[in-house]
Amino acid sequence: MGTGIAQVCAVAGLDVVIQDLDGGQLDKLREAIDHNLERLVSKGKLTADEHAGAMARIHTSQELSAFGDCDLVIEAATEQEETKRAIFKALTPHLNAEAFLATNTSSISITRLASATDRPERFIGMHFMNPAPVMQLVELIRGIATADTTYEAIRALTEGRLGKTVAMAEDYPAFIVNRILMPMINEAIYALYEGVGSVEAIDIAMHLGANHPMGPLALADFIGLDTCLAIMQMLYEGLADSKYRPCPLLVKYVEAGWIGRKVDRGFYDYRGEKPVPTR
Ligand code: CAA
Repeated sequence: MGTGIAQVCAVAGLDVVIQDLDGGQLDKLREAIDHNLERLVSKGKLTADEHAGAMARIHTSQELSAFGDCDLVIEAATEQEETKRAIFKALTPHLNAEAFLATNTSSISITRLASATDRPERFIGMHFMNPAPVMQLVELIRGIATADTTYEAIRALTEGRLGKTVAMAEDYPAFIVNRILMPMINEAIYALYEGVGSVEAIDIAMHLGANHPMGPLALADFIGLDTCLAIMQMLYEGLADSKYRPCPLLVKYVEAGWIGRKVDRGFYDYRGEKPVPTR
């Protein structure tokens, strides 16, 4: 998600700093953005100058101190609250007092994450959809302490400079998109678990029967099964309702490390020419 968000911001003309502890990962994501922009140039959607300009605006660093001059920092780490809290603790001493801080969390309480920072009033949820360069929506989520001025500034940036459409969500587990999308994906996994249909039948049914761009199991692989499970657990615990119970088959796939496209295996095996169902 960080790569996609960085691409959106750089193409919009913003100077971008991307930080990761792993230098190799930083090289890979620079290459990925370069490759994506090259494709846009070949399709005539971007000029070669715009491509070069966007790449020149992207800087990478392994140090959090690189964010010292930034006006907005968007955290896009894995969906684990402890990881995010540790990042905010290490990050905030480097930020200037006026900087806004946003999280791309897909389910964790904005109010709770804000309380782990030195600036809850300048903290907001800024939830991009995957793939961020293609998807039009950004959910904005206000924590209890988020100031009106913060919300207005981030909304103006998102709708203006970034050219996205905003949906405002209240700070309840998984907000709007994942409150609705994840139970649908979880139900598709239950349908597979209970033998209602095969992987292919479930996906083709929802692709052609409900006009979804991809079937729910292919979408789960695309999002990452670890992320899907983390969101279901957040709904289950946060709303204390058994209807959000994660499907045991989803848990099993995550325990196997078959977490979707990022490892080339989930409900489909992506190692060959065509994806092959794994059940
Ligand atoms: N990064 C950048 N661009 C990408 C991309 C990626 N990873 N994947 C596809 N694209 C671009 C392609 O280059 C193509 O661009 P053009 O129209 O300019 O040619 C366009 O997207 C369409 O791609 P394709 O023709 O290859 O394939 P497609 O028509 O099947 O579209 C898709 C691919 C956009 C991913 C589409 O299948 C889709 O919309 N799927 C559903 C995605 C979705 O639901 N995302 C939300 C997930 S939920 C979420 O993100 C919230 C969360 O917290 C979990």
